[in-house]
Amino acid sequence: MTVTVKESGNNLPWVEKYRPSTLDELVSHQDIIQTINRFIDADQLPHLLFYGPPGTGKTSTILACAKKLYPSGQLNSMVMELNASDDRGIGIVRGQILNFASTRTIFKSGFKLIILDEADAMTNDAQNALRRIIEKFTDNIRFCLICNYLGKIIPAIQSRCTRFRFGPLDSAQIMPRLEYVVAEEKVKITECGKKALMELSGGDMRKVLNILQSAATAYEEVNEETVYTCVGHPTKADITNVVNWLLNFDFFNANKMIHELQINKGLALIDIIHEVHSYVHRIDLPASALIELLIKLSDIEERLSVGTSEIIQLSSLVAAFYIARSHINLPKDIE
Ligand SMILES: Nc1ncnc2c1ncn2[C@@H]1O[C@H](COP(=O)(O)OP(=O)(O)O)[C@@H](O)[C@H]1O
Ligand SMILES: [Mg+2]
Repeated sequence: MTVTVKESGNNLPWVEKYRPSTLDELVSHQDIIQTINRFIDADQLPHLLFYGPPGTGKTSTILACAKKLYPSGQLNSMVMELNASDDRGIGIVRGQILNFASTRTIFKSGFKLIILDEADAMTNDAQNALRRIIEKFTDNIRFCLICNYLGKIIPAIQSRCTRFRFGPLDSAQIMPRLEYVVAEEKVKITECGKKALMELSGGDMRKVLNILQSAATAYEEVNEETVYTCVGHPTKADITNVVNWLLNFDFFNANKMIHELQINKGLALIDIIHEVHSYVHRIDLPASALIELLIKLSDIEERLSVGTSEIIQLSSLVAAFYIARSHINLPKDIE
């Protein structure tokens, strides 16, 4: 596979290149953005807590807020941003954060902003130390905590912040942004390609742009096939074949065909299991067969998630279908 880099001067990854720099550019969560805009205009920004799955615009939103709050020359002195790559144990809270929070800006009015990105990685001790600081320096500082899982933030901090949930983006929201990037980067993409991007991303805009960029870099045209190949995910045709083999072939051949497919296309068994799972819901199986199959599939999925051997789990998959088949009265020539 030859990889040609199209962009020479501007070699930023597209997720960064197309990160919305103003609040208006964010494609979703209009209600959240309106509320925050109103807070800023009224000069009454509370402490913020953003939560929700990755790639939904949490970091972009607060960075755009910071740009709106401060003129560019002041950004560095007024905003402190810590993310998962920085150490955020109790030491940093008592040191760097306390330091930044407690030093007053002499000539500038207004508050400073501390962004704690990926705050769910903070230890409970650190969060406990933080809650005193949040309270003590409220007239001087605003916090914005960002996390994927709200449950990992201690209740004391949750209650000191105004919470906003960033849900997964739906295709109608992703599509215009995707089309904009496609036009800017002059990517050749088919309708099926866009659909495949939507399906694989699950509402994560970062994933959409990352997959789009790698598919566009590696292949002439972005279509269903290249999108799936690019991320090593089985295509619909692959899964139709797999289920067909599982239902109709003998044990040895079903095993062999699936194993060969995995090797040729570099597919992980766990992805096959996920797709086969949604496929069997769509085919007409007797309830007893379906029930047995679903229980076995979930067992295999569990075992794979703890790192068991793919070869053995593949046999187990074939075996599961074999047992399910015994519940179906198949015509003699297939059995
Ligand atoms: N609501 C959105 N509108 C436009 N682009 C978005 C949006 N959400 C995410 N993106 C894109 O995805 C990338 C990652 O977004 P980010 O704000 O870092 O997500 P999060 O912090 O929620 O994981 C951004 O650079 C941007 O290109
Ligand atoms: Mg983020």
